[in-house]
Amino acid sequence: MPGVVVVGTQWGDEGKGKATDQLGDKVDFVVRYSGGNNAGHTVQVGGERYALHLLPSGILSRRARPVLGNGVVIDLEVLFEELDALAARGVAVDRLLISANAHLIAPYHRTIDRVTERFLGKRRIGTTGRGVGPAYADKASRIGLRVQDLLDESILRQKVAVALEQKNQLLVRVYNRPALSADEVSDHLLAYADRVRPLVADVSRVLNEALDRGQTVLFEGAQAHHLDVDFGTYPYVTSSNPIAAGACTGSGVGPTRLDRVIGIAKAYTTRVGEGPFPGELTDETGQRLRETGGEYGTTTGRPRRCGWFDALLVEQAATCNALTDLFLTKLDVLTGWPKIPVIVAYDIDGRRCPVMPMTQTELHHAKPVYEHLEGWSEDISGVRRFEDLPPACQRYVRRLEELVGVRISGLGVGPDRDQVVMVRPLL
Ligand code: IMP
Repeated sequence: MPGVVVVGTQWGDEGKGKATDQLGDKVDFVVRYSGGNNAGHTVQVGGERYALHLLPSGILSRRARPVLGNGVVIDLEVLFEELDALAARGVAVDRLLISANAHLIAPYHRTIDRVTERFLGKRRIGTTGRGVGPAYADKASRIGLRVQDLLDESILRQKVAVALEQKNQLLVRVYNRPALSADEVSDHLLAYADRVRPLVADVSRVLNEALDRGQTVLFEGAQAHHLDVDFGTYPYVTSSNPIAAGACTGSGVGPTRLDRVIGIAKAYTTRVGEGPFPGELTDETGQRLRETGGEYGTTTGRPRRCGWFDALLVEQAATCNALTDLFLTKLDVLTGWPKIPVIVAYDIDGRRCPVMPMTQTELHHAKPVYEHLEGWSEDISGVRRFEDLPPACQRYVRRLEELVGVRISGLGVGPDRDQVVMVRPLL
């Protein structure tokens, strides 16, 4: 089973880190293919909690080689902070490979991200403020800086100067900020060159050769389907393609090399940042879900908006990503509710819509239609076999499976690495 993608099916924070970590010991490479340090993977290993923002969670596995693909945008300061912090805790970090084609987040990207959000006011996206969007914008505008530019000082200096000609106009004239010096920005980036050099690789070739040898490559999605710049709730999305197809463009492997696509869904729904969320609960039910689920952002600490499971969201992700399996996380958070509502349709201006609507306008008008499933009160955090779950809990899982149309292969029943119920092996 060589090429496996793990992808979020909601608005991120589904617990992908935990699911990929489950596979970590069986895989040879763990690749991040999109996003930057806007991600927040929390992985708990033996009572120790690791919060990763940029690195693939496979860095915590002893066997898998962690990789940052060309589709990732890299803030060098964050990269080395994260690597140094892990090294200080005894994690082996020198096996990391970084694509020569990955783009860099420069200090001015962070500044522009924040001032743009401030400028947008009420219409802001609610970004993580890490400079991710502006870095991708420069990539598409062909004025981006790439990892390989660090290996050629004169090229890097030229590219920074070109980028700043434009950025300084924007910063000074539109946002009333001081201009940046090209030399200072270049010096700042070049200070990392010696540390980056041994990690740089032709990632596409490395991965294709590994797949040729029959090795297993795990593509670890960051963010999620509904934050995808093409398929998410645009414009309230991130600026890359977290969907499974992004694994190909973001790492340089062809679509025929992907054998399995595992979707991760939380047993309820959360979202950080702005944007439509038809099932959002702004009352004390939402507050209780937030508290029980610990729903505060790993990256920004922001409280997450909460709602019940929305089958329409996950069904669309299942279809568009051609999911082969679903892994349902945080099922234990739902323990103790007599009834658990699930969204099975939207009411859009009096019309019942059983699937995600096509347009943003319809989504803004959507009101959730719930089906109320029976809850359970037994503690499930120690359960390891599906048949040992309370019958109502089993029925909840089976109903979700039916609504989404994908088999549920694994369940998360607590924060620790081994708190999972595997219905069938993922690899
Ligand atoms: P950006 O990726 O920082 O540009 O933010 C764009 C949108 O994506 C905002 O609504 C963020 O809150 C959201 N977002 C980005 N990364 C994550 C993540 O890892 N989990 C959840 N939401 C995210």
